Amino acid sequence: MIALKNQFIFAPIKTGYGDGSGVITEKHLAFYKRRSRYLGAVIPEPLYLHRNLRELPTQVGIDKNNKIEGLKKLVGTIHSSGTKAVAHLNHPGRMANPKIAGNYFASSTHRSCENGGATPKKMNREDMDKAVDQFVKGAKRAKKAGFDILELQFGHGYLLAQFISSFVNDRADEFGGSFENRIRFPMEILQAVKDSVDLPLIVRLSGDEMIPDGIKLPEMIDLSKRLETIGVKGIHVSAGTVCSTPPWFFQHMFIPKGKTWEMAAEIKKEIDIPVIFVGQINSFEDIEKLKKEYSADYMAIGRALVADPDFVGKYFSEVEGPVRPCLACVEGCLGGVKSGKGLHCLINPEVGREEETFERSKQPKNYAVIGGGLAGMQAAITLKKRGHEVDLYEKDSLGGQFIYAPLTPHKKTMSRLIPYFLEELENNEVNVISKEAVKSDINLKYDGVILATGSEPDVPSIQGLTKFYWAEILLENNLPKNKKVLIIGGGLIGVDIATALIPRNNKVIIVKRTTDFGEDMEAIAKNLSLKMMKEKGTIFSDYTHIQKIEGQTVYAQRKGKDIRFDHIDVIVVSTSMKSYNPLEGELKGEIPIYVIGDAEKVGNAQDAIRDGYETAKAL
Ligand SMILES: Cc1cc2nc3c(=O)[nH]c(=O)nc-3n(C[C@H](O)[C@H](O)[C@H](O)COP(=O)(O)OP(=O)(O)OC[C@H]3O[C@@H](n4cnc5c(N)ncnc54)[C@H](O)[C@@H]3O)c2cc1C
Ligand SMILES: Cc1cc2nc3c(=O)[nH]c(=O)nc-3n(C[C@H](O)[C@H](O)[C@H](O)COP(=O)(O)O)c2cc1C
Ligand code: SF4
Repeated sequence: MIALKNQFIFAPIKTGYGDGSGVITEKHLAFYKRRSRYLGAVIPEPLYLHRNLRELPTQVGIDKNNKIEGLKKLVGTIHSSGTKAVAHLNHPGRMANPKIAGNYFASSTHRSCENGGATPKKMNREDMDKAVDQFVKGAKRAKKAGFDILELQFGHGYLLAQFISSFVNDRADEFGGSFENRIRFPMEILQAVKDSVDLPLIVRLSGDEMIPDGIKLPEMIDLSKRLETIGVKGIHVSAGTVCSTPPWFFQHMFIPKGKTWEMAAEIKKEIDIPVIFVGQINSFEDIEKLKKEYSADYMAIGRALVADPDFVGKYFSEVEGPVRPCLACVEGCLGGVKSGKGLHCLINPEVGREEETFERSKQPKNYAVIGGGLAGMQAAITLKKRGHEVDLYEKDSLGGQFIYAPLTPHKKTMSRLIPYFLEELENNEVNVISKEAVKSDINLKYDGVILATGSEPDVPSIQGLTKFYWAEILLENNLPKNKKVLIIGGGLIGVDIATALIPRNNKVIIVKRTTDFGEDMEAIAKNLSLKMMKEKGTIFSDYTHIQKIEGQTVYAQRKGKDIRFDHIDVIVVSTSMKSYNPLEGELKGEIPIYVIGDAEKVGNAQDAIRDGYETAKAL
């Protein structure tokens, strides 16, 4: 690889910030500018090779010469920090987005991804030549745009991996069967690019696709050696596939940290060219571990730099303040991209609005913020940063209901969120008042009040429902063992509670008035939680309306039929939440009022934080 100013690289992440033309926008430039400064290299989002091979309608392209000018600007922005720019070229094959009109689907097989997607055409020689040509032309344009390095995508279940993986590739010709045959087409593409463009090449691959019969490490070690022999300058080792194992591809909080590092380390032992480690590198401890235990040559960091663009700057002590920690939740980033809103972040409300300026107020005022949940804490911090005076009232625990979120087995990474806010409250000298704010507290000294009093469970009126838990059952002292538990309400909170009860050998029944269990959950967390619940024998009772409770028997109606649940030891009520906002009525007309977060409209953590930020920024 060429010399970089340090070993940190921004990993390729689709942003969804385009305007549909494939040309770089001001939003891209602002996003990457904010992230380039402390890094050795930036790999901007994957560049499409043909308009009809897009993964997102808003993706950036390198398919035509009209894209070069914008890409030059992008490269210039990255270079202005002394940082190298890497063009990531990928052909999605059968994983092109089936919802984009005009897209076509080509692969080593005629079979679609088992989790959905279009049926691809099994590529013939002509199709393969077309793909080679697309890569070569894309690479030439990358050179013209000033990129320093090219990265070719051999992994993540995209076209070239669809050839390499024996799980996908079912060909009987010279491109299928043996390992030699399966890598033939990817190697052909690489050679063609290498012969046409004088730029250092690196290859991204999946060390393991994490599926039976998929790509495994021994073959990737063999491939890496061959790549080294033909002059590739670095190997970037990720895992998983976009089709079969998205939790590994996206390194979701539900999968263990460090597996990809072990794969990279195994490859590193066998080759002399640099290896790029990636996957949930989101704390200084991770960086130290990768340096000390694995002697990592380079580290690609994705979401930790989305959540905190200064993560590496803080590691180098060039920027002060606590790291805004990535939770590996993918709620804001992947969630934002999939929803069409573009890349956002649960913890960082500034993601996607890097073009906006943040100014101190010209007329500092004095505000009361009532409620120290995520919305209130974010509002108080932002108000302080803008130069206002703030009293933050909290009657219970700072963090509000989010204190329960990390208490489920796979969401432990979320425990970093509240401590970050507490540190920020202290650093910004927010005056925290530990009491329940009442009308008389909101006196003349305040110019305005922000009501962030959150939400409370909307407990249905059910005859005999007297003793029950809500999310507080997640607290260590409350969690039952070996009991039969009925959870009334199958949304995020109900499903989270179920996943915490199951490992304690509880028998779980979860009921819902409709059928979409976990409907408000992030998709990967939902799929993995429901899968685990099904595997562990959870009873799902949909379209179920609880009628009454008598002793340990719960009577219900399901699709017009009477049903009952016997011998229930514990009842959890996790039906919907309702805004809790009694002060608004009491204070109306007396002082300017701003209602935020769940108090305004029940949402999620990202909504609460964004609302707190936006409201405070506008004051
Ligand atoms: C088990 C569980 C898991 C969850 N998991 C996720 C998840 O994975 N992802 C996600 O996005 N969201 C999750 N959530 C939802 C998320 O926690 C909420 O959407 C978010 O925390 C709402 O924040 P808020 O500040 O608006 O309200 P709240 O968190 O309800 O905070 C309101 C605060 O105001 C205080 N307060 C109220 N009245 C007064 C008063 N008069 N004076 C002083 N203080 C007062 C309360 O004590 C409370 O601390 C989860 C929630 C639970 C319960
Ligand atoms: C929203 C999102 C989009 C991504 N898009 C791509 C992609 O198009 N191609 C790719 O190779 N990796 C993609 N990735 C994976 C990242 O490059 C990286 O490997 C992954 O996020 C793990 O690194 P991290 O834990 O540092 O974020 C994406 C990740 C996210 C969160
Ligand atoms: S949304 Fe979650 S996973 Fe994505 S960058 Fe933000 S904190 Fe990290």
